[in-house]
Amino acid sequence: MCGIVGYIGKQKALPILMEGLRRESYRGYDSSGIVVLDNGKPVCVKAVGKLENLEKKLQGNQLDGSVGVGHVRWSTHGGVTEENAHPHSDCQGNIFLVHNGIIENYKELKDKLISEGHKFVSETDTETIIHLIEKFFKGNLEKAVREALPLLKGTYGLAVIARDDPQKIVVARLSSPLLVGLGDNEYLVASDPAAIIAHTKKVIYLDDGEIVTLTPDNFFIQDANQNHVEKTVNEIDWNIEEAQKGGYSHFMLKEIIEQPESITNTLRGKLIAESGSAKLGGLELVQEKLKEVERFNIVACGTAYYASLVGRYMLEEYAGIPCEADFASEFRYRKFILTKKTASLFISQSGETADTLAALAEVKRKGGLTLSIVNVVGSSVARETDAGVYNHAGPEIGVASTKAFTSQLAILALLTLFLGRQREMSLVTGQRIVKEISRIPELSRKVLENNGKIKELAEKYKNFDNFLFLGRKYNYPVALEGALKLKEISYIHAEGCGAGEMKHGPIALIDEKFPTVAICPLDSVYEKMVSNIEEIRARKGPVIAIATEGDKDIEKIADDVIYIPKTLEMLTPILSVIPLQLFAYHMAVLNGKDPDYPRNLAKSCTVE
Ligand code: F6R
Repeated sequence: MCGIVGYIGKQKALPILMEGLRRESYRGYDSSGIVVLDNGKPVCVKAVGKLENLEKKLQGNQLDGSVGVGHVRWSTHGGVTEENAHPHSDCQGNIFLVHNGIIENYKELKDKLISEGHKFVSETDTETIIHLIEKFFKGNLEKAVREALPLLKGTYGLAVIARDDPQKIVVARLSSPLLVGLGDNEYLVASDPAAIIAHTKKVIYLDDGEIVTLTPDNFFIQDANQNHVEKTVNEIDWNIEEAQKGGYSHFMLKEIIEQPESITNTLRGKLIAESGSAKLGGLELVQEKLKEVERFNIVACGTAYYASLVGRYMLEEYAGIPCEADFASEFRYRKFILTKKTASLFISQSGETADTLAALAEVKRKGGLTLSIVNVVGSSVARETDAGVYNHAGPEIGVASTKAFTSQLAILALLTLFLGRQREMSLVTGQRIVKEISRIPELSRKVLENNGKIKELAEKYKNFDNFLFLGRKYNYPVALEGALKLKEISYIHAEGCGAGEMKHGPIALIDEKFPTVAICPLDSVYEKMVSNIEEIRARKGPVIAIATEGDKDIEKIADDVIYIPKTLEMLTPILSVIPLQLFAYHMAVLNGKDPDYPRNLAKSCTVE
């Protein structure tokens, strides 16, 4: 949930740390802090609130040091205060630590450390780590860290520096993302490559149990048993501009608007027109096994889970494979039945979501075949699964997922094609799907032309307190996603509902103050959706319809209509979700909310 950055080299650390924190501020923004060894003396500055508050505090502060670490916090233990903000330090002001994760046994550790004379100043679980390191510190920082870590239960990505062992940053990871950047006579550490890409594109992704010691001119990585580990150096394949706002007022808007490009990037080189199939390089290793698969589990959280629900309809209808979709947080605790011929697919933008990783670990423990759809290259889900497909949607910085969702849907369509053609799907059907998928970037561009109209709609509806989102079949998950987008960034209450379920309860909510967004393209359930809209009209509920271009009848029963182009039913969610993303965005902005920093949320849920 939090963001870590660290620098050791020949340059001044402070501007590099601040730049890194700015790029990681989507990961946590309730408080922040840095520590730099300035002429050997640790200078630690922290601030509550957005990063600008820390910047203000640091104004005019000319720190010369070239070793330091920084942190943006999304609180889990203890309120939002300067004491609870990172970096934390030991009793002597010698050792400083930044941490992402949760220490589950912190209470017992803390009690013991207090009884041994350690003084705690925060309410955090993190502070126990630093006092443990202090306990073992005899002049060698990595030795002390190595002795402390086995006593911790929980998760961590951490970076530590010490005044009394000053030419080092010690870094460790357990279930919380961390990478090391390799520059010219300088090393960086970060939770996200975006934090360091201005300095280097060469990165090493750390694995669980690894401990790294960075010095100004070297680094070495060891596993938990002190064995030296040789790691692959990865090259980041996107550039700094892609991680910046590019003239848009918010990352969320930029990421919505760039969906024609991000979907194009997702599809690049993957459609085979002649054979009506898909080329998914990441699945080549397991393609023979996939022929045998008789059942799919798709497991994910939040928006990625809604993509999974769409994938379920696709795989069942076109590939003929029975499929379930589960929230990772439920799946990990239920007794799921894994036959030999089940494949489990994990979908995650960040590839670091704790529940998704735990569900994945459980499937692996049972010996199941694991696949993934992941956006962040080199992330844990990607590395832990047997095979997978990267989204290549580019960095998604906005906390609310938008372009990752449409990219996930595009890959699920490709996967359906791939698996369908391994089975009964005819050449003609495959070719028709290929043709239609290749039109999607262009069609999504047409949907975006409605941006102005959607903004006007948001003006009209901005003062309503409640919304219902309705859809059926492929657009039922889109209704759930539309409601999630609205509530998470504008804090307006919104419910997503399968339209057929409305009569079983939610219809009681409807009156003239409770508008409904009905997703009703011309598809196999259109007539049913029209009946549901009539039921809402009968109760005086305002209706905004997302409908297919040319459907004039819908204007007779809906108060407002946003049109999307006609496409194959299975692909409509990629188009129908875009107006809902824009609607949520404008509603938030018009209500004075910052959509890039929704309260209580963070981009990557690396804790349970
Ligand atoms: C909502 C949103 C979240 C994520 C969820 C899973 O806009 O972004 O619901 O979809 O936290 O995250 P990933 O995909 O990184 O596993």
